[in-house]
Amino acid sequence: MDKIRIVGGNALTGTIPISGAKNAALPLMIASLLTDETLTLENVPRLADVNLLTRILVNHGVDYALNGKRAGEDLLTGQTVSLTARSITDTTAPYELVSKMRASFWVIGPLLARMGGCRVSLPGGCAIGTRPVDLFLSGLADLGADIDVDAGYVVAKAPNGLKGGRVAFPKVSVGATHTIMMAATLARGETVLENAAREPEVVDLARCLTAMGARIEGAGTSTIRIEGVDRLRGARHRVVSDRIEAGTYAMAVAMTGGDVVLEGAEADLLAGPLDVLRQVGAEITETNRGIRVKRNGHGINAADVETQPFPGFPTDLQAQFMALMTRAKGTSRITETIFENRFMHVQELARFGARIHLDGQVATVEGVERLTGAPVMATDLRASVSLVIAGLVAEGETIVNRVYHLDRGFERLEEKISRCGAQVERISG
Ligand code: EPZ
Repeated sequence: MDKIRIVGGNALTGTIPISGAKNAALPLMIASLLTDETLTLENVPRLADVNLLTRILVNHGVDYALNGKRAGEDLLTGQTVSLTARSITDTTAPYELVSKMRASFWVIGPLLARMGGCRVSLPGGCAIGTRPVDLFLSGLADLGADIDVDAGYVVAKAPNGLKGGRVAFPKVSVGATHTIMMAATLARGETVLENAAREPEVVDLARCLTAMGARIEGAGTSTIRIEGVDRLRGARHRVVSDRIEAGTYAMAVAMTGGDVVLEGAEADLLAGPLDVLRQVGAEITETNRGIRVKRNGHGINAADVETQPFPGFPTDLQAQFMALMTRAKGTSRITETIFENRFMHVQELARFGARIHLDGQVATVEGVERLTGAPVMATDLRASVSLVIAGLVAEGETIVNRVYHLDRGFERLEEKISRCGAQVERISG
């Protein structure tokens, strides 16, 4: 298993290209199941999760083509992927594949809408919490589907097609919004989603579906209206830039000091976290190339954050912000409201000498003057990258184990930060 070795102490200076968003690319790829024509996606990140979802789609009968590399092309620019679901040969999404990645459960929406039935394995729990699927099931039932759970599989049927309806989510869910929105594009009549997720990835999916011929209004607000159509066609779409990757590197620069342009990052998708970073002492400016993050000399101030659905502070940046606060002047309170168990980085950050007290959903972080390098490991993607951020300022050597978590969601992380002066290398093994 690969490891990452970091020797802390270097400021980051230079340019970091921001990849296409993993959390947009995954539902966009799933949307290819809705049409028998080709969906071409540009700026798809090279990530383990993208590869896994490709396997799942191929299993349903999707043809997959990757564009060839052109001479002189930077390896850090995203790839162009074409997906064609001319015919769906298998409507079962098996346990062996779905259990590896929760987002693959979302195929249930397009498969049901297009094929009138499917069997999709329940995703099960995962490291960050129980993550149930009740909102998906009740949403699909609101569109007229018959839903059964049998031997660990959701069996969904709508032999005469789905019909539009009102879906009022009792809780904001990104995945349920993606899934029901996709299903409703092919339902008869109008669907109204209330309390829908407003995340930029939902907006990106709606844009792509619209290019495919769907009729959607209100994506990015909490009420989305979808007028079903008979069929969708192929389209070409560019995946939105990864706000979580950009926010992660912004926090890394705030931590190490330095001056970095996050090329291609979109400040309006990251307004909340950037405000917090300004508050703690980073200088943030928008440039025509992206977002510039600087911190000179002075230390980091403490700030409190609470995770919330978009446009609030994202849960996917909570671990990274906690790493930053371990070096703050003063005490910060970090409250996690989205997932009940997303604090696995706390005990690993303690290995660097961080002082963190956990009480239910609230972590109190007392900033310390120095962190010291340590061997660490984490059990999810964002927790792992928080350890990299701590390692970048820790004295001496840090070894981050189980790098496959990072490879699920950060494209060529060590290359991107070593180009900016970090002492970091991958140790294969
Ligand atoms: C998406 O997960 C992201 N994943 C997550 O990113 C992100 O943390 C999360 O949204 C919140 O922003 C992808 O986009 C692939 P939810 P998702 O449904 O859709 C509860 C990362 O690190 N809930 O919005 O699975 C759920 O348990 C990942 O990139 C129900 O109760 O998250 C949670 O408490 C991790 N019933 C809350 O809603 C349901 O049926 C929000 O989860 C569905 C969800």
